[in-house]
Amino acid sequence: MPGNIKVTVCPDAQGVARKAAGVFAALLRSKPAAVIGLATGSTPEQTYAELARLHREEKLSLAKVSSFNLDEYWGLDGDHDQSYRHFMNTHLFNHVDIRPWNTCVLNGKAANPALECQAFETKILAAGGVDLWLLGIGGNGHIAFNEPGSPVDSRTRLVSLTPSTIAANSDGRFFKDPAEVPRCALSAGIGTIREARQLVLLATGPKKAAAIAAAAEGSFSPDCPASLLQDHPDCTFIVDREAAAGLKHPH
Ligand code: F6R
Repeated sequence: MPGNIKVTVCPDAQGVARKAAGVFAALLRSKPAAVIGLATGSTPEQTYAELARLHREEKLSLAKVSSFNLDEYWGLDGDHDQSYRHFMNTHLFNHVDIRPWNTCVLNGKAANPALECQAFETKILAAGGVDLWLLGIGGNGHIAFNEPGSPVDSRTRLVSLTPSTIAANSDGRFFKDPAEVPRCALSAGIGTIREARQLVLLATGPKKAAAIAAAAEGSFSPDCPASLLQDHPDCTFIVDREAAAGLKHPH
């Protein structure tokens, strides 16, 4: 039974990026010191480019913003060109006025992963919680690296990647060979993500259509981790027509 999730369908990926960046811009203009959550992957790249453009051309400032990233590969340090820290610097942080010390990406080389994850949660709490968290979705319905089966109340932790996620991330976009993809990651939990006051999940392209349909209209179940957002009070999926193709109901 479909839950509360609002779905906004845009004509194409550029429309998704403009819409998502607009949601961030509206938040930052009303709350300049907002706490934002961020995702990596192919999907948000255009949104980050649009935020950089809004900063350059329309004076959108992130100078007072604090950010938290969903996840990081376990075993990669932030200088590795496939690390999510590197991704964020390259796609967003280096192009806007966010202060580097206000950006938090889990340390994939932390001496003690459990302590690293606990410190991440504590830092979110100390910042007053996340106002708006941007999410992507895996073809298997994962959010962050919460693979199918992840509990609704899971917290930030060391997780294993599924073979399908390893394959998806070594299709030439990121890693060239599956053997290069780390087998584990530090990931915000579903419980951690659900505590954000607002959630915006992006999806583009036909490979996401089944996951979007299951998440928005399927049952509330850890089999599709994104479906565990259905009872969130303010969750919007911003998708292109291809990713919306499996939806049965108008939203
Ligand atoms: C990345 C993340 C992942 C991705 C998902 C989709 O921080 O949390 O859940 O959002 O794997 O990745 P793309 O956008 O590359 O299809």
